[in-house]
Amino acid sequence: MSAPTLERPALRAGAFGHATALSCRECGHRVDLGPHYACPECFGPLEIAYDFPRVTREQIEAGPRNIWRYKALLPVPDDIETSPNTEPGFTRLLPAQNLAAELGLAKLWVKDDSTNPTNSFKDRVVACALSAAREFGSKVFACPSTGNLANAVAAAGARAGIKTVVLIPSNLEQPKQVNSAVFTDSLVAVEGNYDDVNKLASEIAGEEDGWAFVNVNVRPYYAEGSKTLGYEIAEQLGWRLPDQIVIPVASGSQLTKVHKAFQELIALGLVEDKPYRVFGAQAQGCSPVSVAYKAGVDAIRPVKPDTIAKSLAIGNPADGIYVLDICRETGGAVEDVTDDEVRDGIVLLARTEGIFTETAGGTTVAVLRKLVETGQLDTALETVVINTGHGLKTLDAVSGSVAPAATIAPSYAAFAATGIA
Ligand SMILES: Cc1ncc(COP(=O)(O)O)c(C=O)c1O
Ligand SMILES: [Zn+2]
Repeated sequence: MSAPTLERPALRAGAFGHATALSCRECGHRVDLGPHYACPECFGPLEIAYDFPRVTREQIEAGPRNIWRYKALLPVPDDIETSPNTEPGFTRLLPAQNLAAELGLAKLWVKDDSTNPTNSFKDRVVACALSAAREFGSKVFACPSTGNLANAVAAAGARAGIKTVVLIPSNLEQPKQVNSAVFTDSLVAVEGNYDDVNKLASEIAGEEDGWAFVNVNVRPYYAEGSKTLGYEIAEQLGWRLPDQIVIPVASGSQLTKVHKAFQELIALGLVEDKPYRVFGAQAQGCSPVSVAYKAGVDAIRPVKPDTIAKSLAIGNPADGIYVLDICRETGGAVEDVTDDEVRDGIVLLARTEGIFTETAGGTTVAVLRKLVETGQLDTALETVVINTGHGLKTLDAVSGSVAPAATIAPSYAAFAATGIA
């Protein structure tokens, strides 16, 4: 009997577009493109390195109204549109005049990612991870998740016809459980918090061959999907960068990739170079990054999450140190808010702009308000706030705060008695 071989089939030409290698964020060591995420020299996180072609605004504008209009800047093949996926992205960038007036801001935009196929920004990262899984010939598409990622992986895997296995903390909101279970027969609820689930996923990835864990062993490819949020914001502003941007932070990946996107657009000459400030938003019950930011330290001390913002409940954030660097370097900040402020943030966005956000968006809007109130954000400058998920997935968060104003008999007299008219 011959010994099992670890050789994988060769990658097809152009499998990862203009990506050239994986590069260590800490020591710069390079490794060949593959299902790797940690540097063999220093265990630092790997990210995608590219040799970008010349890309013009016109080429991008002629592309599809989804994230593949930016395919030249992503680790995906040129024929990416031909394989089944959920086609996320190109969500609305809405002028938020009512919320701006309420908070005393000169100009405010909401990037509303709650309208993606499974109602969160996670469809973007999952689309890139799915492409990588396909190119690696993976047989299972899997993830540990705080909820939204689970929904996105389960749906994208179903469309692609690949087996999905989705691991979540067992105390997750019911709608997020149903929104995954409807797409997959392999949703596994784990008795523990997200960090326990994540550890289990790493263990499974080490034991099982051919499993693509989107945010573990194909994390470098997955993470690049969040860059499309940054590209879209710049394009929708008329090919320019905002002055200030407020982004929720769980692992911190999204924030670091929006910044990377802005830097790439500048380097490619697609937008003018200008200063912009990046702000991170956390819930107080899970705020390891804002605690480090406020203490002025570089190291992040992991915490045990206890907040209604379950989608942001990552106590040991993989990209936390990079969030600190970016927020400090750009003159931004990382701020946190209480669960009550998160609830108020959800209702504030709903009542001013007609957008129902989940607890992550409530956190972001509440942090925006706190940044204004504490003078950390310049109210005269143009600001973008990202709404990353939909309120229907976290109904319980506000079901105690909003209700019918009255319950009445079906008569005009009863209606008049409410005083609503
Ligand atoms: C709705 C929502 N917003 C924001 C985030 C934060 O993402 P990241 O882990 O990239 O910081 C998550 C993560 O799960 C999420 O579900
Ligand atoms: Zn390294």
